[in-house]
This record gives sequence, structure tokens and C-alpha cells, in this order.
Amino acid sequence: MSTIDKINEWKQKRDAVILAHYYVNDEVQEIADYVGDSFYLSKIATKVEAETILFCGVSFMGESAKILNPEKTVIMPDMMADCPMAHMADIGKIQEMRDQYEDLAVVCYINSTALLKTYSDVCVTSSNALKIVQELPNQHIFFIPDENLGRYVASQVPEKHFIFNDGFCHVHKSILAENVKKAKEAHPNAEILVHPECTMDVVALADYVGSTSGIIDFATESKGEEFIIGTEMGVLYELKLKNPNKRFYSVGHRQFCPNMKRITLEKVADALEQMLNTVELKEEIRLKAQMPLERMLELGSK
Ligand code: 13P
Ligand code: SF4
Repeated sequence: MSTIDKINEWKQKRDAVILAHYYVNDEVQEIADYVGDSFYLSKIATKVEAETILFCGVSFMGESAKILNPEKTVIMPDMMADCPMAHMADIGKIQEMRDQYEDLAVVCYINSTALLKTYSDVCVTSSNALKIVQELPNQHIFFIPDENLGRYVASQVPEKHFIFNDGFCHVHKSILAENVKKAKEAHPNAEILVHPECTMDVVALADYVGSTSGIIDFATESKGEEFIIGTEMGVLYELKLKNPNKRFYSVGHRQFCPNMKRITLEKVADALEQMLNTVELKEEIRLKAQMPLERMLELGSK
């Protein structure tokens, strides 16, 4: 029996639905029921009817699905697939900022641990951060954990005061402005599309800044034929599928998230067959982390 047949057989037996992020390996995106960016996937997780959600992504994605759907079983193909940035904020610093500013909103990128979410007022993803921050009544924003996304949002909302945290994504940080310029020299007609986790000097060179879905939609709707892609290269699968006649160029050779790439078809099949890697959270943590995630769904979907 092929691995794909095994996945299909166990998916039925387990009444499971497979969600996958655009950064996982092509063959995993191919067998998934839903593929998307972080916001889309967290919304879909609240709508699916299956008893089991198999989340092909990194830990914070599975955790968020569980926080929002406590009655469902959420499993992950590989528990070691974790986003390092999700841990890059300090609870002591959050308390310090709350003491310092009365009118503070702690805005937490969804790329964060469940524990960090419990100390936050609202979660955001790269596709809704701008909109949600604009909606908040608060004047002072402490943006955790990603400094680059925080700085990008701040540049678009100059009327608010931002405090930044020094978290970062090593994949997006490795996309260098000098390499973007070289790519543009090599492909002068190409539009530059980047994720807001990139550093500000890279963002400054872009024709479009947005989430993985935003980048895919922009390239699909654009009349342009060539694009320089400033995010993880997993997006190429959907970009090429939707735009077989357009050309896409990477900026460097390190645009691969090693954690997302841990997800393989074999691990998907084993997780379903053996019900491995169930996401478990203490109810006290889950309840506290649910509030900022639900606020995100509410404000982000307005
Ligand atoms: P998206 O919000 O675009 O899905 O990005 C998630 C992510 O991990 C970016 O590195
Ligand atoms: Fe985390 Fe970066 Fe990987 Fe996204 S690409 S999951 S932010 S390490």
C-alpha cells in the first residue's frame, strides 16, 4: 500500500481532516484538505466538522487549533516542528510594560506559545495585524514576539505608540536587502513580494508586503509575469499551481524553514494510524489563551 493510500485509509477511520500551511513540503500540501496562511487555517479549524484535526505545520498552529476547539482531537505529524520565534518574548517584560503604560494593548503574533498568549490582549497574524491594531482603542501597543512585523505595522499606523520586542524569524532575517537588489538587477521587470517578517530594509524595497496568502493572491492577480519572492519557498507550490506561465525567483538559498520541512507524508500516515502527538494543554492555560485568539477571529473577520 502506498503512503498516500495509507493516509486516505486512516483519515477515514479517524474521521480526520488535514490542514497544511503553505511552507510544508509540496507533497504534503498536495494531500491536505485545506492549505493556507495562519489566519485562514485558524478560521478553518473552527469550522471543520471532523473529530480529528491533523495539523501539518509548527507547534503554535496545532496549539491554536486546540485552544479554539477543545472538543476536537488535534494531532501533529512531528512534535519537534516548532517555530523558534514563538518563544522569543519574556513574561517579565510584558508585566513591566503593563506597569509602565496604563493604556497598553499587548498584541501577540500568533507565532507564539500558548503561555505567551495567556498574557496578551489580542492575537494577530501577518494578514490581519494592521487591521486589528487600527481597530484597538489603545494608544500604546506592545508588539510581541516579532520585531519586524511590529515595526512594519507601526510604520503603517503612525498615530499609535509602539514598543517592540526583539524576536525574529531566522528564515526571513536571512533574506538580505543586498541580495534582493541583486535579484532585481538580474530580473529588472520582476515585482518584489515580501513577508512582513523580513527586516525593514527589505520591506522598503518591496512592491508588495503581505502574508503568504497575500503574496500568492497578489502574484495571481498581477498583470506582471515575473516575481522575486521574499518569504519561505514553500509558497512556490501554490504560486506555480495558480500561475503556470509566470516566473518566480528566490532571493537566496536559505529561504527554507527547517521546522516546517520536518513534516513528511510518512509522518502524516503514522500520526493518523497511531494517533501520535496529540496536542494537550492545561485547561487553565487553554482558557486564558482562547480570549486573545477569539478576539483576533472577531476583529480580523470584521
Ligand atoms: P503567514 O501568516 O503568512 O501564514 O506566515 C506564517 C509564518 O510562519 C511566517 O513565517
Ligand atoms: Fe517560524 Fe520563521 Fe518558520 Fe515561520 S518561517 S514557522 S516564523 S521559523
